[in-house]
Amino acid sequence: MIGLLRRVPLPRLSQLPACLLPPHLSLPRPGGSRQKPPAGDPPEVRPGNLVPESHVAAMFDDIAPVYDRLNTIMTLGLDGRWRRAAVAATAVMSGSSAIDLAGGTGKLAAALAEQVGPFGRVVGVDLAPAMVDLARARYRDLVQLEFRVGNALQLPFANGEFDAATIAFGLRNLADFEAGFREMARVVRSGGWVVCLELSVPRPRWWGRTYHALFRRVAPVVGGLFGRRGAYEYLPASLEGFPRPEHLALTMRRAGLVDVSYRRLALGAVALHRGRVAPSA
Ligand SMILES: C[S@@+](CC[C@H](N)C(=O)[O-])C[C@H]1O[C@@H](n2cnc3c(N)ncnc32)[C@H](O)[C@@H]1O
Repeated sequence: MIGLLRRVPLPRLSQLPACLLPPHLSLPRPGGSRQKPPAGDPPEVRPGNLVPESHVAAMFDDIAPVYDRLNTIMTLGLDGRWRRAAVAATAVMSGSSAIDLAGGTGKLAAALAEQVGPFGRVVGVDLAPAMVDLARARYRDLVQLEFRVGNALQLPFANGEFDAATIAFGLRNLADFEAGFREMARVVRSGGWVVCLELSVPRPRWWGRTYHALFRRVAPVVGGLFGRRGAYEYLPASLEGFPRPEHLALTMRRAGLVDVSYRRLALGAVALHRGRVAPSA
């Protein structure tokens, strides 16, 4: 756990968030309202990622070269199917515009770009420059697609600029989940969809606990095969305290989205949420 970031200066133990420490080293979470669960959520729910953004960016920069290979191994190749479901949930069509946040190496943005065609527009935004470089190099042939380095919580786009917004396996990393949805809703036109694909903990509770224990053990081992053990300890740890699908739906409603619904994929290991930006009166 302590080796969270392989080639990045390590924070002192006292600076590490409790969710990233082994139980015998657990520290009280730093005080402040941002650590309190939002009203209506159970006490164990975190309102955001406690790892500083600079560390998150550095970690993803480090794993960028192996990210896609590891992803395919860990999802047993099912991630393509989940991304197609996310594209369908946006309801974008030929000529539409969309933004993909925390887009990583650009796979979901590219799938959206295929859907909207050459007369549409898709922008992928990610905090880690190495991820963005890979995405740009890989998809330079798609004229309707561009990638930018940026923070999902402060998008440099106008209100209502896009027909839809997506985030896949990225929300967990944001410092404030509700603020992430609010920012997505801000840049989407009224009536457009905000879509979130994210890891989840399956039901029932006993299976969720078993799954999580397994995930905690397997992810670092697989990451270790690629020399990235530390970063792949972060992955299962970032699921701890992450809102369950029903609470994530609540978070979306609090962010002002309407018609919020979700479905579980991969026996509940993944959840696909969507909500609509309220049509203007
Ligand atoms: C697990 S990867 C997911 C990448 C991609 N969406 C996918 O489906 O494979 C998480 C991504 O979130 C990015 N990220 C983390 N915090 C971010 C933030 N505040 N703003 C934008 N991107 C962020 C990371 O750099 C990383 O590329």
